[in-house]
Amino acid sequence: MDMKTFGYLYYKTRGYAHDDILKNAEITEEEYEFFEKNLQDVLKEIETLRPVAENIGQDFVRLTRYIYERESDQTLGVQRPDAVKARVGEIVSLPAIGTLTMPDMPLAKAIEQRRSRREYSQEALKQEELSFLLWASSWARDFRSTERMELTFRNVPSAGSRHPIETFLDIRRVEGIKPGLYYYHPIKHCLILYDNSEQIAAKIHEGCMFQEMISNAAVNFILTAVPYRTVWRYGQRGYRYLYLDAGHIGQNIHLAAEAIDAGACMIGAFLDEAMNEALGLDGIEEFVIYISSVGKKP
Ligand SMILES: Cc1cc2nc3c(=O)[nH]c(=O)nc-3n(C[C@H](O)[C@H](O)[C@H](O)COP(=O)(O)O)c2cc1C
Repeated sequence: MDMKTFGYLYYKTRGYAHDDILKNAEITEEEYEFFEKNLQDVLKEIETLRPVAENIGQDFVRLTRYIYERESDQTLGVQRPDAVKARVGEIVSLPAIGTLTMPDMPLAKAIEQRRSRREYSQEALKQEELSFLLWASSWARDFRSTERMELTFRNVPSAGSRHPIETFLDIRRVEGIKPGLYYYHPIKHCLILYDNSEQIAAKIHEGCMFQEMISNAAVNFILTAVPYRTVWRYGQRGYRYLYLDAGHIGQNIHLAAEAIDAGACMIGAFLDEAMNEALGLDGIEEFVIYISSVGKKP
């Protein structure tokens, strides 16, 4: 879904008049006519679900209390999910973790000076710096695999060490790596090229509602959630943990960025449909959950 479609649906379902929809959604008369003709089902669905949406936050918290817990798939002996999703593509190696020179900024200083930084210099990130950011946020320092359980252990905590969050990188300025969308493999510590089409950068920018830091960043971390990895163990309560897990990753990106004279800004304002579409995700078994832009300080 692009911004125009979103704009049409947004204003239409709020009862705006024809002329105001054109103006606010920045669409032409032809586009309006097209949406009128083709989006009736979507409009109906939004109208039907609106009353449910009104209270979904409170219901979510109430209905994921332990009192509603049933036996989890893990307890029932359902086949365990893999710790990492298999993805194929051209592999790009990164400087190995063991070879990195760790920055010497004291932790207290990184915490103290952390800010959301939305402006960046044009300087490219070095591969060592990218490796360091990934070490802090996503790298798996240990991997255990048996028939009954598969786990990774990382520098961020995760409920049951399920680590349901996967990392994609929208690389724009990293020395020696061509721009494009990559998947980060946390066990192999390498990148897998996912999409290097010309439009991908623009799609991600639009999906983040044209927030400027996305296009100025050296790299955007796009975190996705694979809920079943956690739901397998915790049932519906597992959905709570996805967001908590993503938050830890975000904070480590922030602190690690400060340590290399860079800055980060977390992004929760994005169009789910547009971002999932850009990454080719179905929005149910895997969906974009959190984004962080990162770049060198101006
Ligand atoms: C969950 C979450 C979502 C956020 N989404 C956005 C966003 O979409 N755009 C943005 O500019 N900042 C976003 N931020 C950054 C906050 O605006 C920022 O953390 C807040 O204003 C406090 O400023 P500070 O981080 O510099 O202390 C987000 C932060 C969090 C934690």
